[in-house]
Parts: sequence; structure tokens; C-alpha cells
Amino acid sequence: MSNTNLSLDTLELIDPKYYAQNGYPFEEWKLLREEAPVYWFDRLPGIPFWAITRHEDIIWVSKQPELFLNAPRLVVGQEAASPTGEFPVRMLLNMDPPDHHRFRALVNKRFTPRALEPIWAQVDDIASEILDAVTFGSDETEFDFVQHVSARLPIWVIAEMLGVPRGDWKLIFDWTNRTIGAGDPEYQEEGKTPIETMQAARLALFQYFQGMTEDRLKNPKDDLVSVLSHSKVDGEPLPVFELMSYYFLLVVAGNETTRNATSGGLKLLMDNPDQLALAQKDPSLLKPMVEEVLRMTSPVIHFTRTAAEDVEFHGKKIRKGESLCLFYPSANRDERVFDEPDRFRIDRKPNRHIAFGIGEHLCMGAHVARIELQVMFRHILARLDHVEPAGELERLQSSIVGGIKHMPVRWKLRPAEPAI
Ligand code: HEM
Repeated sequence: MSNTNLSLDTLELIDPKYYAQNGYPFEEWKLLREEAPVYWFDRLPGIPFWAITRHEDIIWVSKQPELFLNAPRLVVGQEAASPTGEFPVRMLLNMDPPDHHRFRALVNKRFTPRALEPIWAQVDDIASEILDAVTFGSDETEFDFVQHVSARLPIWVIAEMLGVPRGDWKLIFDWTNRTIGAGDPEYQEEGKTPIETMQAARLALFQYFQGMTEDRLKNPKDDLVSVLSHSKVDGEPLPVFELMSYYFLLVVAGNETTRNATSGGLKLLMDNPDQLALAQKDPSLLKPMVEEVLRMTSPVIHFTRTAAEDVEFHGKKIRKGESLCLFYPSANRDERVFDEPDRFRIDRKPNRHIAFGIGEHLCMGAHVARIELQVMFRHILARLDHVEPAGELERLQSSIVGGIKHMPVRWKLRPAEPAI
């Protein structure tokens, strides 16, 4: 049931501080899905937008890339990189047809389940290494799960895929934190505004990858930086800005997102001991469990589209140039699609969540994320003796990627079975 104190005139949807204090506004989204599925939200510092909250409506918008454009404005709210929300990088996420397709085709094939077969073993090693570092014999361990487990896996994996040497993984990790979490004071550099913090980190990443590109042009290897630096669009090598933006997107897109699915997944298991017991008893539920974790956590809160023409939708007149804000976590709790949408059911079937978006811009790294989550949870479930919260959880101050910044836990992990 919706909270009766809520009103369409006062609800909050996009303030990063709200997300840090309260988590996702599920009650607000539910009210919108029921009463105003296409809702004009104009109480911002910043530009107003149409909030789209139903599953089928987000799919309808996402599948019309010529009518609803990505280019002009990727996100709305205070974290947008400029007052109009324009993003000063040129990457897949803010490209439209026909360029989008041409750029995506450059590395798309490297992200199919088949092409990714070889990384299962690497992810397996990385996950074991991460868990061994927080397991002290048979003792109980208390630690911040985000910092020591979930934050490490995605950045190590993408760094490996790009070809970044191990010694530099920490650098990449810090720059990405500052880029994506720039709205959060913890990640801001002293004396710098959020936008300055973000720009400085982005520049540092660009410079780093510029150096790597020069190296791979001379000494190609079997990594993503080599593929991209040798790629051509219309017979010409990628311009430097587009090339740097590509690396930037790959590094940033999978980092905070997968991290939050991992932390949120462990939290869901701690909050639902019956589901944890079931997952440990029946390893065949690992895959559907990961899909359910993705549905429930939905780490991307919103992306924006811009209407290329006037269009009428649910009786509302959307004008050319106006923004539509797609709230993925709301779609993933839509009672029109999911039974008991607020319940974590690891055997949910079917599970048509759209945590990775849908249509033209469907997450290119979806299979990478699935491998990471399946491998990490397989290790955790096989070795976990018990787990419990060990302090207050802190949420990220962001209305783009939502999640958990710190999650102290106490757990006992059995040593890994020796490999046969
Ligand atoms: C749980 C983890 C992840 C979630 C929830 C997630 C979610 C998303 C979403 C919602 C989109 C935009 C879809 C749209 O606009 O229609 C997206 C795009 C993208 N993601 Fe992910 N993502 C995750 C992990 C990753 C990983 C690990 C990588 C890379 C290794 C990655 C790379 C990308 C790229 C390159 C795009 C842009 C695709 C395009 O515009 O054509 N993502 N992701």
C-alpha cells in the first residue's frame, strides 16, 4: 500500500541527499506508477523532466532511439556535469543513430557470452584472492564489505580486460570513484567543487589512457585498449577525444554499478535468511538469484532521453527538446509485471527485469557483470558459515547510481576448498 502522507506535489525524486538518507523512493515511484506514469517534475534546481516509472513505458521509450535521443542530456539533477546536464565526453551512452551503432560495433563482439568464456577463470582467481584477503583462518572477521570486497572486483576485472598493469589498478580505482561519486562529499578533492573533482579525475584518466594507447599502437596485445586504438570508423582511426571517452565509459560504467549489486546482494541475503539458506542448499539457484539481486538492487537509478519531436504519451503532451527520465528501479518493482515485487525470491521465474536497460543502449557489459556476480556469490555461498551486519550502513549520495558506500559486516568464511 502506498504511504498516505505522500503527495504528487511534494515528492522527491532526484535530490542526491535524499538518496543518501533514505535509499530509493519506492513509495514515491509506486504512487507515480499508479496515478501519474508520465509525470512533469519541475521542482528542481536544474531543468524539469518527465518522470517515466512503469516497466512497459520505459521499454517503449528505450526502443525508439530516433524519437527519444540520448545525445543532448544523459542525466538530470544536481550531479549533471553542467547546469543543462550536458556531458563533456562523447561515448556510446550519449550517441544516437547512426553513429551509436558504428561505435558500438567496434568492441561489441568482445562482450558476448561466448567471447567472454575465457574471463570466467580470471574472475574466479580475482574473487578468490579478494575473499582470502578477508578470511583469517577460522576466526570471525569484521570489515567494510564494500571497501574490501564489492568495490574491488569490477575495477580489477575491467582493468584486466583493458590491459592495465596490476600496479596501476589502484590509480584507476581512485579516479573512477571521484568521477562517478563526485556528488558525494567523501570522494571530493579538497578545495574543489563536485564538477571540478569530476573534471580533474576525468583528465587524469584520459592522460593515463593516452599513454597506454601510444604504447599499444606500437606493441599491440590481446586487450581492449589494443582493439580500440587500432579501430577505424569510416576508414579513419578514432579521434583522440572519442577514443578516450570510450575507455572512460568502459572503466566507469561497470564499476559503481556492479559494486552496488554485490553489496546490495549480500544485504538482501542478510535480510532474508530463508533465501540465504535456500541458495546455500541448492547451487542451481545461483543464476536466478543473481537476476533477482539485479532486479531488487537496480543500481542505475536513471538515464535521460530527449524528445526529438512533439509526442503524446499517456495523454500528456511531451514537447520537442523536453527530457524524459527513465527510473529503472521503479520499472523493476512494477506490480503489473512482477508478483510480490518487493519480495526477494531467488527462484523468481520469469524475471523480466530491466536493470541493464533495454533496446539500442542495452548495457554492453551485462554479461561481464553477470559473470562477476555469479562467481563472487558462488564463492561466498560455498564458504559462508555465518554473516551479520556490524554497524550502520552508509548510502551513496547520488541520484544516478544508487547504492551502498559502506557496509560493515561480521562474517565467518570457511577456507577455500583446495582445487583438484
Ligand atoms: C550490475 C552492473 C551493471 C548495471 C546495472 C548496468 C546498467 C546499465 C544501464 C541501465 C545502461 C544504459 C541502458 C540504456 O540507456 O538503455 C548501461 C549501459 C552501458 N553499460 Fe552497463 N551496467 C552494469 C555493468 C556494466 C559493466 C560491467 C560494463 C563494462 C564492462 C558496462 C558497460 C556499459 C556500456 C559500455 C554501456 C553503454 C551502452 C550503449 O550506450 O550502447 N556496464 N549499463
